[in-house]
Amino acid sequence: MRPERVILNAKSPLINSPAWMALLDHFERVNQIHMVDLFEQDSDRFSRYSIQFNEMLLDYSKNRVTDVTMQLLFDLAKQANIEKFRDKMFAGEKINNTEGRAVLHTALRNRSDKPVFVDDENVMPLVENELAKMREFSEKVRKGEWIGYAGLPITNIVNIGIGGSDLGPNMVCRALEPYSHKSLRVHFVSNVDASHIEQMLIHLRPETTLFIIASKTFTTQETLTNAETAKKWFLEGAGRATEDDIAKHFVAVSTNEEKVKAFGIDPKNMFRFWDWVGGRYSLWSAVGLSSAIYVGMDNFIELLEGAHEMDKHFQEAPLEENMPVILAMLGIWYGNFFNAESSAVLPYDHNLRMLPAYLEQADMESNGKSVDREGRQATYSTGKIIWGAEGINGQHAFYQLLHQGTRLIPTDFIASVQSHGNHHNHSQILASNFLAQTEALMKGRDMEETRQQLVEANIELHKAENRLPHMIFGGNQPSNSIVIKKLTPRSLGSLLAMYEHKIFVQGMVWNLNSYDQWGVELGKKLAHNILDELESGDDLFDHDSSTKGLLDWFRTNS
Ligand code: F6P
Repeated sequence: MRPERVILNAKSPLINSPAWMALLDHFERVNQIHMVDLFEQDSDRFSRYSIQFNEMLLDYSKNRVTDVTMQLLFDLAKQANIEKFRDKMFAGEKINNTEGRAVLHTALRNRSDKPVFVDDENVMPLVENELAKMREFSEKVRKGEWIGYAGLPITNIVNIGIGGSDLGPNMVCRALEPYSHKSLRVHFVSNVDASHIEQMLIHLRPETTLFIIASKTFTTQETLTNAETAKKWFLEGAGRATEDDIAKHFVAVSTNEEKVKAFGIDPKNMFRFWDWVGGRYSLWSAVGLSSAIYVGMDNFIELLEGAHEMDKHFQEAPLEENMPVILAMLGIWYGNFFNAESSAVLPYDHNLRMLPAYLEQADMESNGKSVDREGRQATYSTGKIIWGAEGINGQHAFYQLLHQGTRLIPTDFIASVQSHGNHHNHSQILASNFLAQTEALMKGRDMEETRQQLVEANIELHKAENRLPHMIFGGNQPSNSIVIKKLTPRSLGSLLAMYEHKIFVQGMVWNLNSYDQWGVELGKKLAHNILDELESGDDLFDHDSSTKGLLDWFRTNS
């Protein structure tokens, strides 16, 4: 029997709203406009379509928009009451309506002296307390004062977690590598495939290893399985550690004290956060402990400061000058009117190489929904497919499709001007490629010019004519350029907060609850059932013939 997909027999009204209809009408008139013409008509386009925020620049001039488009997009944002919902979020109202929770990752980086209330309790003392605990612990580890059971300082930190308990701190550690402690190494284990943890542990010694078990719920199967394996390795390894030594080598980051205790970690060694912090928004909390140890608490605080500055920008700047709002509304323009299905994030900074993976979760787990906040079917596209990789590598791999494929793929190009590397010639090459790609995507390659180039290259006429259609392309591929002066803890904080708020704005326009993730539950439940079947060898549940056939294949080949 096919499942009933939508409980309320009603459709979300967004697409009949005045602002939406106006955009639709406008789209019919402007969708053929070429950006080359827009630039030719307006020599000021760059300055009118770019915004500076601290040491960060957003250039959105290479988009298929006019002043009217932008105005209509801002009208849509206003119609969606973005400002009202934004204020509700910052004020601790329970905007996560399906779970009855506040959404307050912004409180974790609230560097003002303003209180933030959840259920009449000011949560700022809790936040400050946890930050102080993180500082004390991270400094001990960094100074070699946190001594393991064999009398040796810690040299390796292993964060065991998955999803938001892995991607955020992992990405931050990679991004801030130049700020890292030079005698500490940090590792991240997420996959329950034993190869992941085994291939890492092989290089480590129990005496000098610290495990951080990070899990909001402390019920996540992959994380707990890896944590148990780590504990076994610690106790049964060559180092002769005992149960009493666990306290020196295992700490937990969670909201669930009971489960942490049940695992065998003393609550003294537990770093807390709260249910008003979503997993994919938790890197600012104690989930960031691995990064705080790796780069130092002062740098971690700088990260929070940078995010807080972006929070203020998001709260205070008019919609028309608001970076997250502009990025969000451009995304809606392409996703909902041009029907672009995906959007690429292309960092031109090696240290931002994990940003696309991090944003995949942040964006797609937040806005991958098809029912609106009132439970009605969303009859419009919502979250786009977010993907990407380091831009310079992508140029030699998948950019062909961006330039000449049949799809419209809006892109975010991200670069830092000042590299942490010491070879200036490398930075110049990187920057030139960054700049060249967005220009090429926008301009395309003109037929006459290309023909001329072939003639000048002495290519025989008939060969040149055959090659010509394969070489030319239309351009008009939109991109945003996000340029930061230097990738520092502060600028990273601002960059990440900008994306978080972009996701928020899009979720609100689509009238989604961006802060739950019910869609991931069914797979977890079915996996538990199937695990019983794999372990017992019995057929305990009904399956379709494909799943049953695959299950049998696993059994016979294991
Ligand atoms: O299954 C999805 C998810 O709940 C994510 O939202 C979350 O970041 C991840 O799993 C890990 O959850 P936890 O931190 O509770 O282990």
